[in-house]
Amino acid sequence: MIPLSVAEIAEITGARPHPAADCGPVVTDTVVTGPVVIDSRQARPGSLFAALHGRYADGHDFASQAVAAGAAAVLASRPPGVPALIVPDVAAALAALARACVDRASGLTIAAVTGSAGKTTTKDLAAQLIESLGPTVAPQDSYNNEIGHPLTVLRVTEQTRYLVAEMSARGPGHITALCEISPPRLGAVLCVGHAHAGEFGSIDEVAKAKAELPAALPDHGAAVLSADDPRVLAMAEHTAARVVTFGRSPRADVGADDVVLDEAGRPGFTLRTTAGSAPVRLRLHGEHNVVNALAAAALAGQLGMDVAAVAAGLSAATARSRWRMEVTRRPDGVTVINDAYNASPEAMRAALSALAAMARGRRAFAVLGPMAELGAQAEELHEQAGRQAARAGLAGLIVVGEQAAPMLAAARADRSWRGELLQVPDAAAAVAAVSERVRPGDTVLVKASRAASLERVALALTGEVQL
Ligand SMILES: Nc1ncnc2c1ncn2[C@@H]1O[C@H](COP(=O)(O)OP(=O)(O)OP(=O)(O)O)[C@@H](O)[C@H]1O
Ligand SMILES: [Mg+2]
Repeated sequence: MIPLSVAEIAEITGARPHPAADCGPVVTDTVVTGPVVIDSRQARPGSLFAALHGRYADGHDFASQAVAAGAAAVLASRPPGVPALIVPDVAAALAALARACVDRASGLTIAAVTGSAGKTTTKDLAAQLIESLGPTVAPQDSYNNEIGHPLTVLRVTEQTRYLVAEMSARGPGHITALCEISPPRLGAVLCVGHAHAGEFGSIDEVAKAKAELPAALPDHGAAVLSADDPRVLAMAEHTAARVVTFGRSPRADVGADDVVLDEAGRPGFTLRTTAGSAPVRLRLHGEHNVVNALAAAALAGQLGMDVAAVAAGLSAATARSRWRMEVTRRPDGVTVINDAYNASPEAMRAALSALAAMARGRRAFAVLGPMAELGAQAEELHEQAGRQAARAGLAGLIVVGEQAAPMLAAARADRSWRGELLQVPDAAAAVAAVSERVRPGDTVLVKASRAASLERVALALTGEVQL
């Protein structure tokens, strides 16, 4: 982070310094140099420990451990037994602190990515391109909400030139709030889908929330919008920034010609931009990653990277975040695709299509769990996924958990279904069912929403864990 004294942090966050009985007062001229951490085990000399009340633990109980590990200051919402800066809302204080760091970081350019699917993948690709232009900070994994985003921003130092942010929304105003923490010059909107549609009420409400990113951009900025999604393209009307489109549509400013998939389902294509073309061979699996790569290319292009460098960078880029189309070839010749990080209807379709492409006519199995947060449409959207599974020509569909049962029913009812159908109660039963059936040459996809934690199935199949 950008170094701040404890007194400055108190002023920025409106905190009240609170002494602790045995340890004395808060020392206000101590300088906090970072990192800002919410896990006491990551505290180091110079750290700021922020005590959050999580689902499983209360950070206030660990403040003394953070101080023992060298933390220079503690931010808390109640006295935690060590000298601390007390604020009513620690997340809001982190947001204020993050904004103050952005204001102090001269020469920082911020690019943000939002959309219903592909944010982390696009952010990881964009970061790998932009790193070649200068020191870049990008979120770890999916740090994209009111906690993860400020923590990411607080990793910016005086040397940082680029911040690539992932922004998620579970309700109106969330993206606006993230943009206020770190005002982006560039913003990419990937797609508007059903992820979190249950919480929003409808897909049009999801679109409104994603539109907050282009709406927050300045007139000297660039809105990178999908030419393939009419709801995203319509956001061009509501931004002061220049609009650059990307996608499979031939009208896109940044597009992909001659897309082919290799035997492992990795796309190759000609990157086509208004400034020229260059060949790309992605290391990521699945055709859906073409548009993620195009969005990353558009962002890097807006920062001045030339087409050849972008194409070379995309071809060298690897998957930085786990459990997204993570492909493991077992010694016995069975291929396991761990795409279990998350699932939405759009992501299910993309993964099933990638599975069919990668199996190339050999036997394919899918282990699918529930898709969460779909609201009233949940049953219908699970049925749709079941029909897509039927049309993917699977040898077997293994559905995990009651909530996902409509997938099985819809696959069974579909006239194109030829394979075996199985409903299992949990991850361990899924592993047993797959293990009994697979033979060398088979491919197995594992996918569900985060809450189902089906990565355990994939990790058990690849031997990384035992269930
Ligand atoms: N362009 C795309 N279209 C459809 N599905 C996609 C696309 N890109 C990724 N996915 C699917 O979405 C899943 C999650 O990908 P990723 O983590 O990049 O998305 P995300 O938007 O960051 O998700 P989250 O909201 O969980 O942070 C992947 O496993 C893949 O199945
Ligand atoms: Mg993500």
